[in-house]
Amino acid sequence: MQTYHRIGFIAFGQRGQQLAETLVNHLPEYGCPAAVADLRKNPVVSPLFSFRCPDIPFFTDYHDLLKMPEIDTVIVSTYEDTHLTIVKEAIEAGKAVYCEKPIVPTLAQAEELYRFVTSRECRFQIGLNLPNFPVSLKLKELLDAKLIGDLILIRSACDVGQTFARSFLINKFSCRRGSFITAKLTHDTDLLQHLAGSYAETVWGSASNFLWRRHGEEAMTDDTAVIAGVLHNGTMFTQTLTSCGSSYERKFHAFGSRGEILADLHGSSIEVRYSNGRSETLPAPNLSGGGHNGADLVTLRSFLDYLDSGERKARWPERILSSVMIPMAALEKRLVETGKWYRSIVGGEAE
Ligand SMILES: NC(=O)c1ccc[n+]([C@@H]2O[C@H](COP(=O)([O-])OP(=O)(O)OC[C@H]3O[C@@H](n4cnc5c(N)ncnc54)[C@H](O)[C@@H]3O)[C@@H](O)[C@H]2O)c1
Repeated sequence: MQTYHRIGFIAFGQRGQQLAETLVNHLPEYGCPAAVADLRKNPVVSPLFSFRCPDIPFFTDYHDLLKMPEIDTVIVSTYEDTHLTIVKEAIEAGKAVYCEKPIVPTLAQAEELYRFVTSRECRFQIGLNLPNFPVSLKLKELLDAKLIGDLILIRSACDVGQTFARSFLINKFSCRRGSFITAKLTHDTDLLQHLAGSYAETVWGSASNFLWRRHGEEAMTDDTAVIAGVLHNGTMFTQTLTSCGSSYERKFHAFGSRGEILADLHGSSIEVRYSNGRSETLPAPNLSGGGHNGADLVTLRSFLDYLDSGERKARWPERILSSVMIPMAALEKRLVETGKWYRSIVGGEAE
């Protein structure tokens, strides 16, 4: 049944406001922002938000927002150190919850949150939007249809470039508000596992700081990482990340038994090279408006459709575990048997 959702925003920084604007601009028939809670007393909001939501209540304590009975849904975009507590309290207050990535800062918290959302009726989803980029959606369709046969190897590379590093990363991560490696690679390694239809069995990685060192004596968050591993279904993978390059690109390259697929996830087409030498370029245009190549709109709409479906179970709860376990393993700088840990929580039947 379609419902008009009254949505509370817990944190109204850059991401909270971006999602509020997606709702106001692109999904007004689904609901509206109904309250904001942010530690900052007077967050500066965009003219659009101010015009569309002139009477919206602002709180500095999110508990006041959770007490509002008319709010059925909350969007949490604080940093990961507060997600576990806020998500649990919001669910206990009867709200449906959309929570930003990285979902939690530790594996112990991942297990706790997984057990919490799977042991009760609730509506919960992580805001992992990379699978809803137009190129990602097309890649999933082609890989599931086995266009290049059985998957053998995935090479995935996220290069954010020094300009992005200066304008975003240094501002964010110099104050220890999280780790750049987990913040970014939670996206890419979630997508990699999603596209392969599997999860990481073993992971080795390393991360280091090469460039961003001018904030006092200590290196800031690591700026570069390399990861290699094997998925449960046998597919091998590599994932790299650097903020030391010249441009923002996300390159995905999959090798299968019948050919290869190459794409820039931020682009609008996919190249397929078949083993017989033939090749073709398939379009994957962005047909939506809004941020992140239209993925924010698709992700939020799909979340609200899930709420309207009447389902009372957390959506994709296993991604609480799988979306953080690869980057966290990489930060340990040794071989980690992620699959054993994942199955010990999800159950032995996990595919
Ligand atoms: N899915 C995506 O594409 C995407 C994009 C950007 C950011 N994010 C995620 O969103 C989160 C926030 O990023 P951002 O860019 O908005 O950061 P930001 O620094 O702009 O905003 C964070 C806000 O959280 C508020 N806050 C912190 N603790 C709070 C609390 N206990 N109660 C209420 N408010 C609180 C701060 O006052 C601040 O306004 C991060 O986890 C980031 O990884 C996701």
